[in-house]
Amino acid sequence: MNIAVIGSGHVGLVTGACFADLGHKVICADSDAKKIQTLKSGKIPFFEPGLLDLVVKNAAKKRLSFTTSIATAVKRSEVIFISVGTPTKESGEADLSSVESVVTQIARSLTGYRLVVEKSTVPVETGNWIKRTMQINLPKSRKADFDVASNPEFLREGAAVQDFMKPDRIVVGVEIKLSEKILSSIYESIDAPIVVTDVNSAEIIKHASNSFLSAKISFINMVSRLCERVGADILKVSEGMGYDRRIGPSFLSAGIGFGGFCFPKDLAAFIHIGEKAGADFGMLKEVININEGQKKHFIRLVKDTLWNLNGKKIGVLGLSFKPDTDDMRFAPAIDIIRSLRNDGADIHAFDPEAMPVAKTVLRDIRFARNPYETARSADALLCLTEWKEFREIDLARVKRLMKRPLIFDGRNMYDPKALGELGFEYVSIGRPAVR
Ligand SMILES: NC(=O)c1ccc[n+]([C@@H]2O[C@H](COP(=O)([O-])OP(=O)(O)OC[C@H]3O[C@@H](n4cnc5c(N)ncnc54)[C@H](O)[C@@H]3O)[C@@H](O)[C@H]2O)c1
Repeated sequence: MNIAVIGSGHVGLVTGACFADLGHKVICADSDAKKIQTLKSGKIPFFEPGLLDLVVKNAAKKRLSFTTSIATAVKRSEVIFISVGTPTKESGEADLSSVESVVTQIARSLTGYRLVVEKSTVPVETGNWIKRTMQINLPKSRKADFDVASNPEFLREGAAVQDFMKPDRIVVGVEIKLSEKILSSIYESIDAPIVVTDVNSAEIIKHASNSFLSAKISFINMVSRLCERVGADILKVSEGMGYDRRIGPSFLSAGIGFGGFCFPKDLAAFIHIGEKAGADFGMLKEVININEGQKKHFIRLVKDTLWNLNGKKIGVLGLSFKPDTDDMRFAPAIDIIRSLRNDGADIHAFDPEAMPVAKTVLRDIRFARNPYETARSADALLCLTEWKEFREIDLARVKRLMKRPLIFDGRNMYDPKALGELGFEYVSIGRPAVR
């Protein structure tokens, strides 16, 4: 099938490259000319495991191309996926101005029938807005026609290609049978259950799923605070809960809270959607409160142990909001580092992939060349992202390098007993501290 993907970011580019790899002919469009130039030159604008190979391979096979022109993308396609950003306004509401702009341009470029599919995460009833906007902007003289469908994306950055190719489910929100047929045939070679529903329900599935996962994280973080008070071990509590098939083990890791482009914004948007519809989504406000509180709690642990921070050297391992991505959007590391900097701490950070992006966000810290450099003469070491390479670090060497062998582990990466035996002071989340 000939497919256009409008918006070539973390979701759009993965979608385009994976569709091309499934054998479709895909054109990816983006208003960012620099991004399109990068893609045309055989590079990708962000780090995502496996994506570069897929882009290069399918571009060489002429199944994947790039353009800044939405009109060109519309002309060459039968199905158009919209995957532009839907950021948060100050009110918490999703900002849909990019969606409106893209839809207007699609309508004005239409010459025949197209299926227009929302892939971006959008509030319920956006499908209706898209339909109305299309109708208003359709060229009067030409034989243009369209249908609107919803196909929310559930991929996780860092495992995006794998998630796209092997999803738990594919959700398809349609108004007519033809749209279902088209979308089912696009995904034909992917082995996953397809949930077919109306457009409104599909839109709600995405927001409800992300809000539920965020709630699970805040729940376990809440319990971790109790564990700290009474000397229990949150890892054991999570394990004991996770074996229950009704609960499941995923998203039960206590830490410094969730971040990233999706959870904070989708929670805020879902709360706004609930309020607008007169439904009480107060539970989700508490999910945000606990998440914010978790970062503050971690900062307090650091301050209560180090006393005055002014002039003290603090090493930081990990900056991205989670491992295997260079995405820094709403990363907990940003708030934590800014707070410590405000108190005069001298921060030396290392991240395997996120440093180029982090340098544009955190301008007043130093960046190290490797994890050991962050530890040299440090008063404390903070673990903020659970990259695999940090788990495998030579901790005896780290101890020799540090001024005070003190680790604050915001991701529960290490075994407290082993660190105690090595001579570290070790403070983690929801587990007894080793001092
Ligand atoms: N990142 C994730 O893990 C993830 C997962 C599932 C769903 N989503 C949702 O997918 C959507 C996109 O997220 P993302 O992470 O890919 O965002 P992104 O910021 O990485 O990419 C969005 C792209 O859209 C482009 N764009 C913006 N306005 C445009 C316009 N008018 N015309 C053409 N291109 C335009 C931007 O230049 C950018 O390249 C969001 O709604 C998000 O909530 C994201």
